Parts: sequence; C-alpha cells; structure tokens
Amino acid sequence: VNEKQLEIARKAIQKSVEKLHQKKAIQIESVDKTLNSINFSTKTEPKSDENLLIIEAVPELLDVKRKIFAALNEQFKGNDSVIFVTNTSSLSVQEIGVKVGPQERYGGLHFFNPVPLMKLVEIIKNVTTSQQTVDALKEFVADIGKVGVLCKDTPGFIVNRLLIPYSGEAVRMVERGDATFEDIDIAMKLGAGYPMGPFELMDMTGLDTGKFVVESWLAMNDPTLNVQRSELVNKMVSEGKLGRKTGKGWMRRKGVFGRERNPCPATCERPKPPTCSTFWCNPNCYLVCSGGQVLDTKTGKCKPLSEC
Ligand SMILES: NC(=O)c1ccc[n+]([C@@H]2O[C@H](COP(=O)([O-])OP(=O)(O)OC[C@H]3O[C@@H](n4cnc5c(N)ncnc54)[C@H](O)[C@@H]3O)[C@@H](O)[C@H]2O)c1
Repeated sequence: VNEKQLEIARKAIQKSVEKLHQKKAIQIESVDKTLNSINFSTKTEPKSDENLLIIEAVPELLDVKRKIFAALNEQFKGNDSVIFVTNTSSLSVQEIGVKVGPQERYGGLHFFNPVPLMKLVEIIKNVTTSQQTVDALKEFVADIGKVGVLCKDTPGFIVNRLLIPYSGEAVRMVERGDATFEDIDIAMKLGAGYPMGPFELMDMTGLDTGKFVVESWLAMNDPTLNVQRSELVNKMVSEGKLGRKTGKGWMRRKGVFGRERNPCPATCERPKPPTCSTFWCNPNCYLVCSGGQVLDTKTGKCKPLSEC
C-alpha cells in the first residue's frame, strides 16, 4: 500500500458518504465525522492495540491474505485481546488463517456490497473460533448498526451458497432460450418480491467475481456445490463486460444500462410518474422509475418494488 493508493481510497470513501448525504440517508455532520474517524496509513500501526479487531479485506488471493496474517500475527504477538478476521467471500476461512497464532481469536466477518447500505454481516465461526470471540464479533456488528448472522466456514457461507446456484440457473435459462434476461429480472422482482433481478445483481457484483467463485467451487470437487461453467458468462468476462465496474454487462448488451434504458415510447398510455424524472418501459410497458422503483398507479407515486 502506498500514499497514492491511500488517496484513491480516501476519495472513494468521501464520494460514498457524500452520496449517502445527497440521498438524505445521513446528516451533513456525519460526512466529516466518518472521514475524521478513519486513520489512513501505509503501516499497520493502530492508535491503540487494546481490544483491537483487525479486518483483512485485501484481494481474494490466498497467498496475499496468508502473508498479511503472518505479518500481523508477528506484530501483535503477546497481545491476548486482539481478534483477527477475514472478509473473504469465497475462500476457506480456516485455510487463510493458518499463520494466525491465537486460533480461538480468529474467524470471518463477511460484509456486503455496497457496505454503507447493506445491513447484513455474516459472522463466520471457524472450527477453532471461541464462543467469546463469536460474542465479541456479534457485539461489534450490532455496534456498527448492522445485523449479524452466524455461519460455519462453508463455501459461500449463507448468502452466496444460495445466490451463486440461483444466478447460474438464471444464466442457463437465457442460454437455453427459455426467457430473456429482462423478463427473468422482472419475474423475480414482481413474482418473488426480490428488490433486484439476478442479472441486475450480477451487473452490480461483477460478472468476473461470479466467474471466480464458480471456478473456485469447481476446483473443490464437492458434489454438494451446485455450479456449472457458463460459456456466455466466460465470453462476456473475456470481452470486459463485467457489469457496472466496466459500464458494460447484461444491461448494456441491450442498451438498457443505467441511464441508457429504453425511454418510454410516445405510444405508451400508462400514466407517467410525476415524482420521478427518469423512467423507462420494460417490454410489457410496465413503468419502472429510477432507483429500481415502480409506479404505484393508485397514488401516482414511485415506490420500492419490495412494497408492491
Ligand atoms: N466486492 C465485493 O462485493 C465484496 C463483498 C464482500 C467481501 N468482499 C471481499 O473483500 C475482499 C476485498 O475485495 P474488494 O472487492 O474490496 O477488492 P478490491 O481489489 O476492490 O480492494 C482490495 C484493496 O486491498 C488493497 N491491497 C492489495 N494488496 C494489498 C496488500 N498486500 N496489503 C494491503 N492492502 C492491499 C488494494 O489496494 C485495494 O484497496 C476480498 O476478500 C473479497 O472477497 C468483496
């Protein structure tokens, strides 16, 4: 980590909290308070090492993560309160932490993207994690205003164990020509009450991330892991269509990514949402407002899909 990288991180965090303020999710004072509470440093030197919780969130590379834990273990040797956790999404918590000395004070905390908005944190109990550590992690998660769920160190933990096979089946439906990706998204939003369809979700989390998880699960040779490679996804990834991060993905393929969604045609007779300036039509002329909201025809206002 160098100063340039720290500056990139600081700017990204500032942009993220300012966006929350613009969306009226937080007060203006919280923007400075949040930024001032973060100590940006190229060294792992905390202000105090009393009751320290170290959350490792470097890229999903086993060797890099192990190296970091080996160095941290050396640095905090003799400190019997420090807790070490990894934020890994797809690697084995146990395998990452082999170089951690106090195994009873080691586990996982899996946050969700975008972290400032997503309430869930999966607390991962490694075989060696003590109950005292689990309790401390539960307390920390509650203190930062999130909701913790407990899971063993199993592939995908809870959310991804269910989501990865679900996204995979959605892609296979498109590959077989059963339905379009737009209709599958609409079906899951309006029929299953999901706030986002599987393709919108893949665009948000990154098609490369999904591919990476599929490959690592296939390498585990575990028959209970329900995954298959997708030629279509592999082709999209090789073409740089990774979703929002590259501005191209499922949505952009049909020219309906973000603000470039199909505008409502003049022939559409559905009432226009008065509270929403950007809206577009899905193939069935169902009006969808920006931010994934839908038009409530009774009140004429936009409301979240989840309230439909
Ligand atoms: N992106 C997600 O949606 C998401 C969600 C939950 C968990 N995770 C997990 O979080 C971790 C990071 O993922 P990400 O998407 O934020 O990756 P990222 O590449 O966006 O960020 C990783 C950060 O680590 C820094 N870094 C790289 N090598 C380092 C080193 N040797 N020492 C210190 N810092 C180093 C990089 O500069 C970068 O800022 C992964 O384990 C991933 O599985 C990601």
